[in-house]
Amino acid sequence: IPNDFRLMMEAHELLRKFYHHLLVNTKDGQHALEYLLDRGFTLKSIEKFQIGYALNSWDFVYKFLTKRNFQPDLLEKSGLVIKRERDGSFFDRFRDRIMFPIFDHKGNTIAFSGRSLGAVDNEPKYLNSPETAIFNKSKILYNFHLARPSMKKLSQLILFEGFADVIAADKSGIENGVATMGTSLTDDHVSIIRRNVESVTICYDGDNAGIEAAYRAATTLASSGSSVRVAMIPDRLDPDDYIKKYGPEKFQNEVIGASVTFMTFKLQYLRRGKDLQNEGDRLQYIENVLKEISSLEKVVERDHYLRQLANEFSLSLEALQQQQKQIYFANK
Ligand code: UTP
Ligand code: MN
Ligand code: MN
Ligand code: MN
Ligand code: MN
Repeated sequence: IPNDFRLMMEAHELLRKFYHHLLVNTKDGQHALEYLLDRGFTLKSIEKFQIGYALNSWDFVYKFLTKRNFQPDLLEKSGLVIKRERDGSFFDRFRDRIMFPIFDHKGNTIAFSGRSLGAVDNEPKYLNSPETAIFNKSKILYNFHLARPSMKKLSQLILFEGFADVIAADKSGIENGVATMGTSLTDDHVSIIRRNVESVTICYDGDNAGIEAAYRAATTLASSGSSVRVAMIPDRLDPDDYIKKYGPEKFQNEVIGASVTFMTFKLQYLRRGKDLQNEGDRLQYIENVLKEISSLEKVVERDHYLRQLANEFSLSLEALQQQQKQIYFANK
């Protein structure tokens, strides 16, 4: 490892510890700690995920690290401070934010994501470190290093949208959860996942954006050869909200335990916004489902979903089989 990289990680390491100390032990961090506890974070989670607090200051990090002999240019390269064009002076990137350290697969601190405490109007809710020599967010899955033993043991991981979801699930006894860092799932993420587990349960937010993103992630993962299930959250909640509202048992049993196959998820996805009492919508839906069925590789699976469709709409199985074959050969 080049010396610069080592120093950049060292700066992150020192800062992670200090941010955490500020949150847990100081008066300056008290409002941030109260915010977290109010939201349902536990002290145990705060410890395990090494959550911290960045002071409301323009130069606390700059001073803290330069005093420890880190060069300003190195701090800028590591994304912790920003250089002012005007006079070349430096200011802290993260101010008055809850700090989530981001670890690489070995447990080195390589970046931060800072959540704003107040109303989010003209600033981002989560501010991430920029891409640096040690941090490439398209290759990082949040919580990967802590989740690894559990995901290896189960040969399964659960993919969430947000940090808070990973942490709430962990508190509920689900330790194999990871999240992307606000980006969609990249090819690099997929190959990390393929190298480590056979199956993935996608548990994204229950809002429209979450459902669309789940559909895309499921498609990418399934075509990489992963066995994919989707766990859906009702009422547009996200996993963290759901756990806070209904508790860990209900989350385990009625969300994760009730996850469905990718195909069943697709069928529900295709129904969205359609009124199946309406003949036009219904025929369109059936056509779309037949297309999906045609893309299934196994005869037994095709047969299963054709029968399900025939039952649901009181159609003849023969007619559906025939139409499905037409679609199948048209696309060959
Ligand atoms: P969400 O908007 O669902 O946030 O974005 P959340 O995780 O539920 O956050 P809380 O519960 O309000 O604290 C999902 C993820 O997208 C990324 C973050 O990684 C977040 O966890 N994101 C979101 C950003 O990077 N920047 C943003 O401004 C917002
Ligand atoms: Mn501690
Ligand atoms: Mn969301
Ligand atoms: Mn969310
Ligand atoms: Mn949330």
